[in-house]
This record gives sequence, structure tokens and C-alpha cells, in this order.
Amino acid sequence: MTTLDPWGAVKIDNYSKLFDEFGISKFDELLGKIKNPHRYMRRHIIFGHRSYDSVLDAMLSGKPFAAMSGFMPSGHAHLGHKMVMEEIIWHQQQEGDAFLAIADMEAHAVRGKTWKECREYGINEYILSAIAFGLEPGAHIYFQSGSNSVRSLAFELGIKANLSELSAIYGFNGETNIAHMVSALTQSADILNPQSEEFGGPKPVVIPVGADQDPHIRLTRGLAEKINWFNAFIPDTEKSPHGLHIHIYSKSAPQEAFEALNVIFRKKWKSNFHAGHIDILCNTSNVDETFEDVKKITKDIELKYGGYAFMPPASTYHKFMTGLQGGKMSSSIPESYIALMDKPEDGAKKVMRAKTGGRVTVEEQKKLGGEPDKCTVYELLLYHLVEDDNELLEVYKDCMGGMRACGNCKKYTAELMSGFLKEHQEKRELAREMLGEFELQVTKII
Ligand code: TRP
Ligand code: SF4
Repeated sequence: MTTLDPWGAVKIDNYSKLFDEFGISKFDELLGKIKNPHRYMRRHIIFGHRSYDSVLDAMLSGKPFAAMSGFMPSGHAHLGHKMVMEEIIWHQQQEGDAFLAIADMEAHAVRGKTWKECREYGINEYILSAIAFGLEPGAHIYFQSGSNSVRSLAFELGIKANLSELSAIYGFNGETNIAHMVSALTQSADILNPQSEEFGGPKPVVIPVGADQDPHIRLTRGLAEKINWFNAFIPDTEKSPHGLHIHIYSKSAPQEAFEALNVIFRKKWKSNFHAGHIDILCNTSNVDETFEDVKKITKDIELKYGGYAFMPPASTYHKFMTGLQGGKMSSSIPESYIALMDKPEDGAKKVMRAKTGGRVTVEEQKKLGGEPDKCTVYELLLYHLVEDDNELLEVYKDCMGGMRACGNCKKYTAELMSGFLKEHQEKRELAREMLGEFELQVTKII
């Protein structure tokens, strides 16, 4: 017997490589702990994460955390962007700090957009839609070019990145313009910026991304680690009956910070100061506690003396939507996606032309049932148009059971789609009036 799985359209098989080869963890393991899981979480559209536990712990214990993402203002915002926006907004609703970057430096350097175009696209396509979806004042919205702290951080991160590493991720070569490379670092700076002093220092920050964006996350996690001054760890080999060592390596800390750390450690524990590292001998009975203590003290010293002490940024990974024609969703094929500014009737038309999981004939459909897992129309319902899980389950069952005809189902979906677009576009007009209530760092270049 096949079990009914209304979330089956989002097949995880294609993504299993990410778990095995790249060390992405399964989101399912955390799902039970989340209080009001978002539709994408409940439906396993968000399937993976890196260190999202840190964000969740902060969320559950009322500590600071943030969610951030960036949008390149070079094309039309579509349902894929809506996914990221909703994820940021959900975290803001769980009391997180929300950050939204408009990647105008990237759009200018990589896509040749003028600063003026960047500003218009940034506001009209992305910022207004994010507010219309529910982003609240208090969110930090900025254009990369308008944020000195992001630009300075990008420069600083550049010290820890080299061309080979960036080439491997972004395909840079000798012909790549330098500003393109700078905008890659700027993206990492966007990701780490919520942890800067200006926003209250180190904290868990989640970057919700599509499954293909992991290399950027890994790069940034690596840079965060490299730019930090100290590295504390317990070497396995040093377990002994007399106690345990904790090692604290200084990578690039100024001497005075390193010495200040040593002074504190000396007072609290038996410790040895070497060139470049400190050993602390601790009691076997309270290693974990001591280790937490050491990390806290190290972090405080790093911040006091002007370092960053970044936490590695967390990430969640969502599956992609299929293009409406079946293949990939691509911004160069307008028929493959629904843009947030598509006229409601055009959005409906795209649904009517979309590839379904229906059978060749009505008789077959009745006999065998449809294949919602292969249906882009079902995907629209699953990802965007039906919030109620039971209602969605009904559609799924009816389709599988051959009780649903694709023609009617498309009409139903097309109506929901045009209703959604109409409402969203009305809300955008209200959002325009609300813009003044937002902290907005707009580009200063033009
Ligand atoms: N590079 C991203 C894009 O092509 C945009 C972006 C800029 C971004 N900064 C970011 C995404 C930070 C996530 C986090 O769309
Ligand atoms: Fe897709 Fe609906 Fe047809 Fe099922 S009935 S295959 S969900 S269009």
C-alpha cells in the first residue's frame, strides 16, 4: 500500500547528496521543538540546516537572534523570492531581528545595472513586497552601497579570502572584474553584519537559502572562523587521570588582548602561557562548564579589544519550485515563473498553461488517479496558495484517487493565484505609504 504523503511533491532524494557530502543536517530533527512551524517547515520544503539549533535555542530562551537575506535588484521578484521573504518575516514574528539587504553593489558590478535602476528595483520589486508580506518596522533594510559597516567588513574579510577559494565557488578567473570579487565578499559581510557591534554583537543568525546556495554559506562560515582571534578546543589526546587540557590558540589577536586573556585565566585556573597559545588544566568533573566559561571569557576579551568573535552563521535550506513548464524556473523564461508584479489575469493564465501531473485521458485519470508529486499546479498550492494542511490533503487525496480533473483543478488554482496577486499588489500600495516607518539605508552613490 502506498502511503499518502501530501508533501511528497518535494522529493528529498535529489538533495541527499547535500547531507552526505556536505554535512548539511536534516531539518526534521529540529521540527518537534519549533512552536509555530512555518508552512515550509511543516511541509518539509525546508529540509536541511547548518547549526540552526543555535537559532532555535535563542528563540526558545528569549535570547537575541536574527534572520537575514539579500536580494539582487536586477530582475523581477517572483515566488522564489517570496519564500525567502516569508522565512525572514516568520523569524521576525518569533521575536528575531530581521535584516534585508539589497545587493546593489552586486547588481551593479555583475549585472551592469545603474545605481538608479538598483534603487528603483530594490524598492519597487523587493522592499515593498517584503513589507506587503508582513515585514514589520524594526527590520533593518539597507542597500549594500549605503552601509559603511558592511563595506568595511567586506574589506576586512578580504584579508582572509584568496582568489583560489573564491574561484572554486564563484568560477572567477583572470577575466573576472575585481568589483565582482568585492561583491562576493560583500555578500559574506551582509551575512555577518547582524553580529557586529552596531547590532549588539555576536548572536545566532539564520540565512534562509535555496539548496544551491550552500557554497556561499560555507565560505562565510569559514571566513567567520578565520577572522576570529581565538580558537578554543579540547584536544582528544590529552585526556589524562590528572585532568583535561583546554587549548586556546591565538590566530591573529593583538598581543595585549592575548596577555589580558592570560591574566584572567591565571586567576581562575592552572594555566600555561606559550607563544601563540594557552593551556588550561581543568578538573575532569567539570570540563563542559569550564569550557563554556573559557569560551565566554575569550569572546568578551575579543570584543573588548576590538575583534568580532563571530558565531558561525546558521542556515536553512529549502527546495526549489519547479518551473511552470516542467523544467527549471528561470528568470530568463517569464513563462516558467510567476512574478509578484504579474497582472492577476496573467498569473492565472500561466497557471492554466502549467504542466500538470494529469494522465493523457480523462478515463485514465479516473482509473489511475493523477500524479500530484509531478504536478506544478499542485506545487503552487503546496508552497503558496493553501495554508490549511487539511485542505491541501483533500486536494492530494482527490487527485490521487482520480476524483479530480486537471481542468477544474487548474481553474481553482488560477483563481487562487489571481486572488493572491491582486491582494498582494494592493498591500504593496499600502506598504509604499508605510515606508517612512522603516529604518532604510539607501544608496548614497547617486
Ligand atoms: N547574491 C545574492 C543573489 O544573487 C544576493 C545576496 C546578497 C544575499 N547578500 C546576501 C543572499 C546575503 C543571502 C545573504 O541573489
Ligand atoms: Fe495536478 Fe490538480 Fe491535475 Fe492533480 S488534478 S494532477 S493536482 S492539476
